[in-house]
Order: sequence, then structure tokens, then C-alpha cells
Amino acid sequence: MRKMQTMVSRKTDSPAPLPGLRAESTAGTGRGELEGIQGPQASRVSAGKTGTRADGIAAALSPAIASAEGCRILVYGRTRWGKSAFARHLVTAVLNSRVAETVLIHDVKYPDHAQFTGEEATAITQIGEAMQAGSVVVLRPPVSAMEAAHVAKLLAEYREPTLLLVDETRRALGGSQIWCDGKNPDGTQGPRSFEWLCLEGGGLGASLVLLVQRPRQLPGDAVDSAQVHVVFGLGGRSLAYLVAAGTVPPEAAATVRALKPGAFCLFTDDEEWSGITYYSPE
Ligand SMILES: Nc1ncnc2c1ncn2[C@@H]1O[C@H](COP(=O)(O)OP(=O)(O)OP(=O)(O)O)[C@@H](O)[C@H]1O
Ligand SMILES: [Mg+2]
Repeated sequence: MRKMQTMVSRKTDSPAPLPGLRAESTAGTGRGELEGIQGPQASRVSAGKTGTRADGIAAALSPAIASAEGCRILVYGRTRWGKSAFARHLVTAVLNSRVAETVLIHDVKYPDHAQFTGEEATAITQIGEAMQAGSVVVLRPPVSAMEAAHVAKLLAEYREPTLLLVDETRRALGGSQIWCDGKNPDGTQGPRSFEWLCLEGGGLGASLVLLVQRPRQLPGDAVDSAQVHVVFGLGGRSLAYLVAAGTVPPEAAATVRALKPGAFCLFTDDEEWSGITYYSPE
């Protein structure tokens, strides 16, 4: 536990700058551009309103800034539609807006390279040192999503405003709509850090951002506690599920189905859909 206290002792007056992450940038990240990225005119479905990616990120963070209780954001979309690229810019905005002072990113998609820029840690025992070096810690294999959630919960309990961003949330799931950290390998009850982050973490300033291709795999506590649903292009059963669940209003379904790569819409449970499609590049 002393290690954890050391881990959370870092307090910075201002978030460290993030090399390679540019808040103002809406383009790709150097890992390849999407040929299909098109501006509003090319992609517009109807006479809908449009906004920039920066507008969309600001809107996604506005409930967290207003409540000072961290953000809980879900990001859905087809593969290669730009979820991880969006998440890179969201991390910058989270730090700049002081929604969180420490960001843990579970980034294990590619064994040979990280998708996110930050201090890399390949074991949770390295997190304390990584936090001394920078505000963003990228958790790489073999760190599990379960371990990442446990550390995020501990940091929040020690009053370190922390965002846990899980890039491939499928790996945090122990089945459809079941967190992998609800059960130990021997079948006994395990810790429930993901559930805690969803339901209680906001009160301690914890933030959670989950990226997933198929929204119907997410446990109910993640869906119900989300402040904002960021929806990239989706169709088929995934879109039908979001409409049936009440996340996407029926009048928005055609827009979501037709979104080009890099474009997204925002939905909340409390407010009517704005009708805005957010595009990139600006
Ligand atoms: N707004 C954008 N403008 C230009 N290029 C983009 C944009 N968003 C994403 N890209 C590029 O498109 C590719 C796929 O993006 P990304 O990895 O973010 O997709 P993804 O939705 O996370 O996919 P997956 O579900 O497979 O992880 C990357 O090469 C990325 O650089
Ligand atoms: Mg991705």
C-alpha cells in the first residue's frame, strides 16, 4: 500500500504537455490517413447541423466540467472508423480542462506498438514511476484491463483525479454484458472495480472512457451511468440495439448509419439529440 501512496503523491499545478498530442489537430495521427474522410458537404445525409471535432469533444466533456464529478463517456463505432484517433484528442482535452490530472490508458491492441503517447508501463508496479514522469500512463501488455481498473479505483480513492480509458473494452468483458473483474479465475467473487468506476467513481473524481465496437456487449452499469454516448458509423444489429435501448433516437438512425469515417454524433439520456454531426477535419 505504501507503493500506492507513493504512486498518488504526484500533484502537478498544471497538466504536463503531451508530446505528440495536439488539441487543435483534427487530422490523423501519422499512422495513416483515412481515404474516406470527407467534409460535411460530401457526407451530409440531410440538411443536418454540423460541428467540428473540437466542438464535439467540448460537448462530450461539458457534463463532467459542470458537475466536477469526472466524465463517463462511451465510444462506439465500426472498426477503423476513428474511435482511437478521437480518444487521443479527448485525452488532451480532459487534461487541459482539468477533468482529470492523471490518465491511465489501457492500450493493448497491437503487441508491437502503442497507439497512444505517454509513459509506458508493462506492469502495474511500474505505474508509480511512470506517473512521476508524466500525466499519461499507457498500460501495455501483459497488463490486463482488470488490473487497470483496480489501479484507477485505488488512485481515485487516494483523491488523484484519474481517467481510465480502455481502448479495446472487449478485453475487459468476461462475456456479453459481464465485466471480467466480477469473478476470480476459481469462480469465487472477485473485485468489481469496473462497476465501481461506473457507479461510484464520479463522486471521487474518477473518469471512465470506454471504446467498443459492439455496444450491446457492454454491461448495463456502463450504459446506464454514461453521461455521453459518442457514436461513430454503425449499422445492423449494433445500431438496432442502440435504438431499441433508447440511446439513439429513431430519427437519428439514418444519420448514424451514413456517418463517414471520422464523423460522429453525441447522445445523452437526458437531452434531445442536437441533430449535430461532428466532422473531422475541421
Ligand atoms: N479524423 C480522422 N482524420 C484522418 N484520419 C483518421 C481520422 N480518424 C482516424 N483516422 C485514421 O483512420 C485509421 C483508423 O482509425 P482508428 O484506429 O482510430 O479506428 P478505430 O475505430 O479505433 O478502429 P478499431 O475499432 O479497429 O480499433 C487510422 O489510420 C487513423 O489514423
Ligand atoms: Mg481503435
